[in-house]
Amino acid sequence: MLPLLFKVRHSHYTRSLRLLSLTTAEAFSGIMRKALRHSLRSRFANISASTARWLRKLKGSPWNMEVMTSRFTALRLSLSTALVLVIAGCGTPLSENWSDYTPPAAPAQIIATTPPSAAPEPEKKLERVAPDCSIEKCVALTFDDGPGSHTPELLKVLAQYDAKATFFLIGENVAKHPDIVKAELDAGHEIGNHSWAHKDLSKMSVTAAKKDLQKSDDAIQKAIEQKATLVRPPFGALAPSLKKSLDVPVALWSVDTLDWKTRDTKKTEKSAEKVKPGDIVLMHDIHESTVKAVPEMLKTLKAQGYHFVTVTEIIGKPKDGIGYGTGQSPATKK
Ligand code: NI
Repeated sequence: MLPLLFKVRHSHYTRSLRLLSLTTAEAFSGIMRKALRHSLRSRFANISASTARWLRKLKGSPWNMEVMTSRFTALRLSLSTALVLVIAGCGTPLSENWSDYTPPAAPAQIIATTPPSAAPEPEKKLERVAPDCSIEKCVALTFDDGPGSHTPELLKVLAQYDAKATFFLIGENVAKHPDIVKAELDAGHEIGNHSWAHKDLSKMSVTAAKKDLQKSDDAIQKAIEQKATLVRPPFGALAPSLKKSLDVPVALWSVDTLDWKTRDTKKTEKSAEKVKPGDIVLMHDIHESTVKAVPEMLKTLKAQGYHFVTVTEIIGKPKDGIGYGTGQSPATKK
């Protein structure tokens, strides 16, 4: 009984209940004491001498007023303790020190209350926390000219390494493979615009070039319900007047793997040796030789402590109409 009382006393809940019951019992016993005294006094006033003597004799017996009062106090304490235990037993045990407390058995399986026709709740995706590229080693792998038939395989490889990349898409190919573009976005990769049909925008009027980029953007919007966040002009060629008028940042590159030229998996893999922290690496996912080189590149760079991030993540907060990366305009390309 007593150890149990000590365990119960730790809880705020039971402590306040105990206080309440003690206060109530105190008030009650005060009233009772007064009533007893009053009743005994009034009886003593009108009693005969023999009764008074008998009562005086009684004073020495265990039934006199003081003894009765002290017995009443003991009763009061027992009652309040019992009250505390009963109430505490009804509630949830709150004491952390209730070491020998056994939790109630788990209830039997609850039958689903939602009707079977109700749609299941969509899985909540965890927000990715991008590494801080001002402290950590980061590299932005970029893949141009897709989506193509090898892109789904590339997405699998990137997922294995938890690598995020940036895809600069050709509008024509987006229209052909909107599902692949959606898969790219869903996997957390960045989507950039690489023109509608890979024509040299620097050889067009600003109006025509903007129209070309817009056409590609419309295809991207249709596929993923959002615009491309970056532009990479074909061949890295862009008239300064067009660059200034763009409402997105321009992302070129700082490492060219020349994968489009060599079409050699081993040579593309070797280009990982050129990578420095903060680099934007140019590759093309329309070539099988490139997609085959990516696992080895990821393995090599990961072993060196690199994080694979998007272009926007590696730049920080790229500004509209500003070019990032040194870029090149390989005359032999396409
Ligand atoms: Ni290209």
